[in-house]
Amino acid sequence: MYTMTQQNIRIFNSVSGLAGFFTGFLQQHIDANAGQPIVSVALSGGSTPRTIFEYMAANPERISWDKLRLFWGDERCVGPGHSESNYRMVQESLLKHVAVPDNNVFRIKGEADPAGEAARYASVVSHMLPDHGGIPRFDLVMLGMGDDGHTASIFPGNRQLLHSNNLFEPATHPTTGQKRITATLRLINTARNIVFLVTGAAKADMLARVIKKKEGWELLPAAHVQAAQGKLLWLLDEDAASLLG
Ligand code: 6PG
Repeated sequence: MYTMTQQNIRIFNSVSGLAGFFTGFLQQHIDANAGQPIVSVALSGGSTPRTIFEYMAANPERISWDKLRLFWGDERCVGPGHSESNYRMVQESLLKHVAVPDNNVFRIKGEADPAGEAARYASVVSHMLPDHGGIPRFDLVMLGMGDDGHTASIFPGNRQLLHSNNLFEPATHPTTGQKRITATLRLINTARNIVFLVTGAAKADMLARVIKKKEGWELLPAAHVQAAQGKLLWLLDEDAASLLG
């Protein structure tokens, strides 16, 4: 079960409970858009999203897989078979187990030149999604949050990504130097639904800083996510939410 502390924060006593809720939330959205043949989702990397994909793979009957178009909110600049590839993570935890039509899966080509691929993928997204005020609009964007306050691959210090007018940009992990490609805030904040998926005690301090907008929040990319044109939902476990009281 979950408790609601604020209208858009739900706290679960287990990650499987969180995964089950998210799965139902996604299918509710598919059902609510019965007139719209396809629901576009930007997937996230990370351990919490992976747990959710594994839950979905174990409960495939809960989702109308043919109604989904799947994209990625970010990717590491590695090939699709690399152990750090977000595409590979989703392929192994979910796509191998469920019936998403291959032509409804749009991976970011991490093996390509980052700047060129950011531009190519922005063009794919622009072509496949309806626009809202000139910006492609996802039905749902899944996000994780790092314990440094990053989300997608927008890291603290990447100020240009907070204000970029592009849809996707190359990025660099601040400690590993790993090249990434990431959706920008401009694209993320246009989505109909943005769902943060954050679990574990290691995230508790940062989550409180982001959600309560404590001093210095402006430096934290996750704190800049706001569903200007839709809904923002935080799905948390009790450990991650332990400092929100
Ligand atoms: C990635 C994700 C990244 C991730 C967070 C949280 O490519 O890794 O886009 O933003 O969601 O780092 O990851 P965890 O859930 O594993 O802590």
